[in-house]
Amino acid sequence: MEFIRSPFFYVGDKYKLMPQLIELFPKNIDVYYEPFCGGGSSFLNVNAKKYIVNDIDEYVIKLHLFFKEKSQNKDKFINDIYNIIYKYGLSCSVLGITVPEELKKQYVKTYYAKYNKKAYLNMREDFNKFQSNMYLLYLLLIYGFNHMIRFNSNGMFNLPVGNVDFNSNVLKAIDNYLNFLSSKTIEFENYDYKDFLINKKINSNDFIYFDPPYLISQSEYNKLWNEEKEKELYDILDCLNKEKVIFGITNLLNHKGKTNNILLEWSKKYKVYNIESNYISFNDNSIKVNSNEVYITNANY
Ligand SMILES: C[S@@+](CC[C@H](N)C(=O)[O-])C[C@H]1O[C@@H](n2cnc3c(N)ncnc32)[C@H](O)[C@@H]1O
Repeated sequence: MEFIRSPFFYVGDKYKLMPQLIELFPKNIDVYYEPFCGGGSSFLNVNAKKYIVNDIDEYVIKLHLFFKEKSQNKDKFINDIYNIIYKYGLSCSVLGITVPEELKKQYVKTYYAKYNKKAYLNMREDFNKFQSNMYLLYLLLIYGFNHMIRFNSNGMFNLPVGNVDFNSNVLKAIDNYLNFLSSKTIEFENYDYKDFLINKKINSNDFIYFDPPYLISQSEYNKLWNEEKEKELYDILDCLNKEKVIFGITNLLNHKGKTNNILLEWSKKYKVYNIESNYISFNDNSIKVNSNEVYITNANY
């Protein structure tokens, strides 16, 4: 099976872990639920009859819905994206718009950021005027630092330019995602995960995968998370277990010297699988990132 990546290249995405996770997920899923779907790299790689996914971030969900709408006319969508890239004068290796050699020599490690900065800031300013143009938001995500969606306290998108380009990987990811969206039955929701789960009638052949913000790591969406929310999530999972709903959850038990003790205690009730995670450098043992990422499930197989 070929594993595919969401075109959002979303921070914290599970693309690299999916080959391991898919082995631990149920084999036959009627409805796949994902309450913390982020960029979608998880559900994209799951085979189910139907998908119902959610995220609290309204712009993430707006982007998914935008892609869903555009999946009906793939060629036009990609063409529209190219026109915006031309309009702002961004680099785009797929279109042959490359950074001049001089600039590459001068800024060996940051030449994309140098080249795209002005165009990116113009595009950001235009997006912030109405904040409704999803083409612009998508390109801000692609050309932005660490592929994040970040707004300041005044509600303005404020991510700086990243050292990245619209390359063949981005194009391939867009193509894969549009194909997925046009061939599957998928619903997107935009709630806190508790409100998402309430009133859902979840059956024994359904499955819920939880990929919440990790309590002991850092990212933009961790601002929304704390110990109280972590405990509440585990209480909810215990309730789901009582109702015989099958779930799986990933999280970090240890990371950079910290331990998630709430998780450690709670996990003793269920099956725990160690995951070889991105936090560990497989190739370079000198990079010592001491992490233990786990998958916990109440499934009996
Ligand atoms: C680790 S990321 C999910 C990544 C995703 N599995 C992927 O592969 O792209 C966690 C997500 O949880 C969302 N989130 C944070 N708090 C939430 C809440 N209370 N309810 C629903 N979603 C929430 C964040 O916006 C973020 O997108």
